[in-house]
Amino acid sequence: MKVEACIFDLDGVIVDTAKYHFLAWKRLTDQIGINFTEKDNERLKGVSRMASLEIILEIGNLSIDAVAKDEYARLKNSWYVDYISKMTPEEILPGSLDFIRELKDANIPIALGSASKNTPMILKRVNLSNVFNAVADGNNVHKAKPDPEVFLTAAKMLGVKPENCVVFEDAVAGVQAAINAGMKCVGIGSTKVLTEADFVIKGLNEMNISRLRLIEKMI
Ligand code: BG6
Ligand code: MG
Repeated sequence: MKVEACIFDLDGVIVDTAKYHFLAWKRLTDQIGINFTEKDNERLKGVSRMASLEIILEIGNLSIDAVAKDEYARLKNSWYVDYISKMTPEEILPGSLDFIRELKDANIPIALGSASKNTPMILKRVNLSNVFNAVADGNNVHKAKPDPEVFLTAAKMLGVKPENCVVFEDAVAGVQAAINAGMKCVGIGSTKVLTEADFVIKGLNEMNISRLRLIEKMI
């Protein structure tokens, strides 16, 4: 393939916000009497807020009406926002800034493709608001990963064909979304979990432009 653009997921790829999602969901589940573990939290990665709540209710075998669901999602988000409003640029994951800088120097456009409605706030807190050429997130995209909408929107905003995009993703649902978009995917995490990714690295600290050029030839 020929890489003409790179699209990054946000949570778990550029910043480690999974811990804040976990703390906020944990606070809710403690309150409503559901036993929710860090292992359960893995299932929520890349999944939208409402879909995450549905999974949690399923774990707890709890059935509630739409009004209660809205209230629970609102509560969880208010706690999550408390956490992320204190984030600093130090929370950008290792290697992300260097790789982004290299891509900019090579004139390769970059976009963000995230399910999170809190994307603008996180980008602001870590000083990355004006770094991406396009941002597709929970505010302008409505179908949750593994639907490809978020990545297709990002590619369209950049004016690059899907087959020339590489997605960097840490969630199983996100890897599937990239594949469903007809894009190539570099998984961030474990090969055991991200089995469908074209290539897997532990973090963006293992990526640079020359490595990308090598991978480009392989996938
Ligand atoms: C994804 C996270 O990026 O965004 C999920 O991996 C999260 O865990 C989803 O549920 C939605 O985030 P938000 O900020 O809109 O609740
Ligand atoms: Mg993620």
